[in-house]
This record gives sequence, structure tokens and C-alpha cells, in this order.
Amino acid sequence: MIPNSPAPDQAYYDVLVAGSGGAGLSLALYLADTYKVAVLAKFELTECSTYYAQGGISAVYDDEHDSIESHIEDTLIAGAGLCDPEIVRLTVQHGRESIEWLRKQGVNFTEERKLDGTKQLHLNREGGHSHRRIVHSDDATGKAVSLSLIDRAQAHPNISLLSFHNMVELITAEKVGQDSNRILGAYVLNSLSGKVEAIRAKIVVLATGGANKVYLYSTNPHISSGDGIALAWRAGCRVSNMEFMQFHPTCLYHPSARSFLISEAVRGEGGRLILPNGDRFMRRYDERMELAPRDIVARAIDSEIKKHGIDCVYLDISHKSREFIQKHFPTIYMQCLELDIDISQQPIPVVPAAHYTCGGVMTDSYARTDIPGLYAVGEVACTGLHGANRMASNSLLECLVFAERANRDIREQINNIPYPASLPEWDESQVTDSDEEVVISHNWDELRHFMWDYVGIVRTTKRLERAMNRLDLLKIEIAEYYGQFRVSSDLLELRNLVIVAELIIRSALQRKESRGLHFTKDYPEVNQTEPAANTILMPAKRQKF
Ligand code: FAD
Ligand code: SIN
Repeated sequence: MIPNSPAPDQAYYDVLVAGSGGAGLSLALYLADTYKVAVLAKFELTECSTYYAQGGISAVYDDEHDSIESHIEDTLIAGAGLCDPEIVRLTVQHGRESIEWLRKQGVNFTEERKLDGTKQLHLNREGGHSHRRIVHSDDATGKAVSLSLIDRAQAHPNISLLSFHNMVELITAEKVGQDSNRILGAYVLNSLSGKVEAIRAKIVVLATGGANKVYLYSTNPHISSGDGIALAWRAGCRVSNMEFMQFHPTCLYHPSARSFLISEAVRGEGGRLILPNGDRFMRRYDERMELAPRDIVARAIDSEIKKHGIDCVYLDISHKSREFIQKHFPTIYMQCLELDIDISQQPIPVVPAAHYTCGGVMTDSYARTDIPGLYAVGEVACTGLHGANRMASNSLLECLVFAERANRDIREQINNIPYPASLPEWDESQVTDSDEEVVISHNWDELRHFMWDYVGIVRTTKRLERAMNRLDLLKIEIAEYYGQFRVSSDLLELRNLVIVAELIIRSALQRKESRGLHFTKDYPEVNQTEPAANTILMPAKRQKF
């Protein structure tokens, strides 16, 4: 018999969502008509990759030239043989519906006037897409999506938005000595009070984004430290395809703006990649030139930078008029101008940077993980959509489609799940305040440096092994530190990044071929002799707190 309400001694929500990006907030909004939902964010609600997304969201709107079949085919080609075709179809089929749902939440997408005077969505083009199908809000799509969803969530009486709350560890029945592995809640650090609280929930959702801050150079905000992947792994979930870390080809190269993206849409509108001498080098790499899939463009840039010993290459859109550039790329234009780069007159210095985590927590088509009651939605998950390489603007689409599918499944399950009983409080009796914070910043720097140098765009077995040796030492140091001192956000992130780094290196070492985003000089070709397979890592044992 399931009681009508939870015992009142500890915080309880029907659904606890870690993440205030596109995935987490969409799911919260779907569920909130019926259920009490808490949404955690490590810092401010807007500090997430979603907010910084530029290009847009892919969806088939041009019925005359484009089709669902074409979007599916492009996604499968970019994914280099590792996409799950069923998941690709399911996702792509829901493109338009997802955009219409966002419009209902108040998102204003850029429109254009048709010849008959009526308005339609303006569509951009990006790498890998054979048609214009990127719905966007100028060049700041993520900001428009993020602010609208936050507005809606703030106004909803059933949603509690808990910024500066960091999920530390998942609590499963098994971890508290019961004979099942169902999710019961999580320990959460309130970074403002410094206290770790146990929060109970029937359902926990990881919507924590990617792990791209494991690299020295990244387009991502600080929060992308792979927390959800590490949390799920420690709790006993399988993780897959972690070798496929995507490097965006064009991050602004400037000492004062190291994470600023120059959207692929700039290349979609005719931007050309050139060397300092003006040579348009992409012609030597791929007939699709600047609009080849990202792995190809990023590797070409990396190769040219190394060959010529230069710091960066250039992206030139100066052949378009100032009016055109200001209209299509107002954010990029202004950001560059503030750094004294007038992109209507001069090329933009760019380098590749870590951008997207294609692998992650393994989920099924309803975002369910291996642990009953635990879901993973958005960049944290590996659904099978992206395979060995994500196509541009398919990520926000995945967030929306899988949030809706998780919503459907949660509604079916939740009434049969008992309220979790009281959970053990977080035990701080053995730890003290740290007097050596420098250890964290030093180790973090070291990790991100060697991941960039040894586990980056071009790999070798020797480099990967070298990285693994360094990692083994870091793991020991961080475990000791974690055992001795009170947790802080920085310590939690570093502990998670080390796990994620290990998963990336292990996966990369297992793949004896080059495919999609994983390129190794020791096996430079795709393995044609065996069927393409995902890299699935099984947790050795479910780890205690
Ligand atoms: P995020 O939006 O990253 O949100 C993660 C949330 O989880 C944050 O609120 C964070 O605080 C929270 N969190 C993390 N760890 C914890 C923890 N331990 N406890 C509590 N909360 C936690 N994709 C596209 O499709 N189109 C684009 O145009 C596009 N442009 C991009 C441009 C940039 C610069 C970047 C960085 C990415 C871009 N992407 C784009 C990728 C896309 O934005 C992301 O993949 C997507 O937004 C991820 O959404 P998410 O909800 O999964 O995670
Ligand atoms: C971009 O605007 O180039 C980013 C698009 C994406 O990552 O999907």
C-alpha cells in the first residue's frame, strides 16, 4: 500500500532534476501540471551550455526542398556508422513539434517575410546538413530558449528552482542497505550555506550537460564538468562512447575571450576558412569544404596549425556586407568588435575547442538509465542519436525530444513508486575544512592540460597511455583529499572530471580504429572487417559514498 504523502522529516519532491538547461527545464515544465519538481543548478540558472547556444535547432520546415528522410540521412552520415537508426528517426520526426512547443513557451525565433507578405521561420544552414533547416533566434538561440524556459518555470507553483545547489551523490536503495537498486534521492551541496542535504524523490533526472571542461580549451561554460556521467557511473550505470568528444572547429582565438564560439552558421552563410596567406585550405580536405562535418573541419584546422607552426587559422566573412553580417550575426559582430576585430573588414582568428560530449550515460528511448527511477536527458545521455559525431544543431533537438519522452514514461511509472523513507544524513564526522585549496586548482590545471595534449583531436596509443599514467596519480591524490576535507563545488567537479577523463581514455584505448571524432595515428582507418560497435563501459562495482 503506497501512503498518500511522504513523511515530513526531510525535503521531498516527486521529481528531482539536476540541471537548468534546455533538457532539465523542459522536462520540469512538462511534469509540473501534476507533480512537484525541484530543478537544481550548480550556479546561476543561466550558467549552462543551453544559454550560450548560437546556431539553432534543426527541424524540417521547408517541405518543398527538405524532408525528414533527408535529415535522417544527414544525421546518419555525420554519425559515421554508429547512430541508432530508430532513435535518429524518432528524434528527427519530432523536430517541428518541439519547435512549436518552444514557441508556446514564449521563444521568439527569427522570421522572414514570404513573397505573399506572410511570415515564415528563417532557416539557417550548418555543416553536414544538406538543406537549410536550422531554426534560430538570430545568433543567440540558446539565450532566447533559456530565458523563456526560466521565465515559465519561475512562474510555476509546482517548480522549485534551486540555484547554487550541487548534486554530490545519488542515493539508491542498495546504498542504504536495502535489497533493490531503485533511486531514492540524492545528496546535494547548498553552496551558499556549505551544507550537504539529503533530498528524497521518487524520480531523479540527470540533465547536467556535458564534460567538455575536461579539456584546456572549450567553448563550454564552467559547469560542464561531466558530473552526471560520474554520478551515474559511481551509482552503477553503464556509460558509452566516451571517446567521441567533439571539437568545434571555430572558437575565437583571443586572450580575453577564450570560450567564445563563432557559430557554424557563419560558414553556412559563406564564411571561408583561410591560412594567414589567404589560402582556402579546406579544398584539400573535403569537397564539402567549410561545410564538411565538424570532425573533418576540426582535424583539418589542427593539421594546418601544426604543419605551419601557427597559433590559429582565420574565418573570413568580410566579403558579405556589414548590413548582412549585423543582421545575421549581431552577437558575434558585437563581441568581436569589442575586441577590436571588425568582422566585416577582417578575418576572425579561430581555433578548435572541446565543444560537445557525444557519449554519456546509456539510456533507452524513454531516457531511462540502468537504475530504476533514474533518467538522463540532454548532453549527459548517450541515446544513440549522435553516433561517432553529432551533427550541428541536433543537440538542442535531442534535449527537447527526450525531455518529452521522459515525461511520458515518468507519468506512467510514478504512481506505483512508494515514497522514499528517511535517508541517512550526510556524514561529516571524519572531515575538516581544507587548508590546501591550491591542490585542487593545481590538479585541475594539470588534468586539463594533459587531456588537451594527449587525448585531443589527434591521438596515439602512446599518448593515451601516458595520459592514463598521469591520471592514476591524480586519482590517488584526489581520493585522499576527498576523504579528509569538507566538500566544495571545485572539489566535487575535479573528482567528477577525473572519472570522466578515465572513461574517455579507456574508451579511446579500446577503439582500434579511427571513426568519426576519434582519430588515432596508430589505426588511421575505419575498421571495415567487423561491424561498427559502440564502446560500452560496465561499472566494476557500485561504489559507496
Ligand atoms: P546544459 O544546458 O549544459 O545544462 C546543464 C545544467 O546542469 C546546468 O544548469 C548546470 O548547473 C547543471 N548541473 C551540472 N552539474 C550539476 C550538479 N552536479 N548538480 C546540479 N546541477 C548540475 N547545440 C545545438 O543544438 N545548437 C546550437 O546552436 C548549439 N550551440 C552551442 C554553442 C555553444 C557555445 C555551446 C557550449 C554548445 C552549443 N550547443 C548547441 C550544444 C548545446 O547547447 C548543448 O548540448 C545543450 O544545450 C545541453 O543542454 P543540457 O540541458 O543537456 O545541459
Ligand atoms: C554553432 O552555432 O556552431 C553551434 C551549433 C551546435 O553546436 O550545434
